[in-house]
Amino acid sequence: MFKTIVCKNYDEVSLEAFKVMKGVLDTEVNPILGLATGSTPVGLYKNMIKDHEETGRSYKDILTFNLDEYVGLPRDHEQTYWTFMHENLFNYLDCPDCNIHVPSGVGDDPEKNAREYEEELAKHTVSIQVLGIGSDGHIAFNEPGTPFDSVTHVAELTEQTISDNARFFEGDKSQVPTKAVTMGLASIMRAKKIILIATGANKADAVYGMLKGKKTIDCPASILQDHADVTVIMDEAAASKL
Ligand code: F6R
Repeated sequence: MFKTIVCKNYDEVSLEAFKVMKGVLDTEVNPILGLATGSTPVGLYKNMIKDHEETGRSYKDILTFNLDEYVGLPRDHEQTYWTFMHENLFNYLDCPDCNIHVPSGVGDDPEKNAREYEEELAKHTVSIQVLGIGSDGHIAFNEPGTPFDSVTHVAELTEQTISDNARFFEGDKSQVPTKAVTMGLASIMRAKKIILIATGANKADAVYGMLKGKKTIDCPASILQDHADVTVIMDEAAASKL
């Protein structure tokens, strides 16, 4: 079931997302956070850091599971999701590295990395999963066509996603990795609660497909129509086609 919140601007979106996150942090003992990278959740993470600094909330006993990681970049490369999460969140909280889970994209057997990640993830129930959405309706790196029963796997990035992400690689598409280890759609659906954040006009079609379209693998985010507790927080541009 979807709850939708439309906000005026990115700051409001980030604050609303934080309110939902805070509800979980305030009420669950040692919650398990499912986290996303990309531009969209950065404002939410800033609010979490501010909350940690101002209220002293501790993340010492909180486990985190990230959605995905590029294949083929060393872990400390400036564009890995491991680095992104440290620069935008973990470095400012008191969570020990041993409680942080980000899929591994290194080594010569990414499929094995994916299997091991799924095994670890399956031992837990994510309390709240943060999601962004791709302009093609992807969530994590589950591109159109990904089966709804997929678990953590190695995914090929589409041309669209490679173009969208080239902005992080000096605009050079040839530098963007072509594969990623990603939680699958079924893995994501196991989370107790989901917040999906979407901003910008380029997300409007995907947001429409997710909320109002037919449930189809052509719009991976439409699987969320079957989840019991999804809050979609968006700005007016992302909501403009609803
Ligand atoms: C990131 C992820 C992706 C992004 C999506 C939107 O971990 O899994 O699905 O959420 O590509 O990215 P941004 O927020 O950069 O528009």
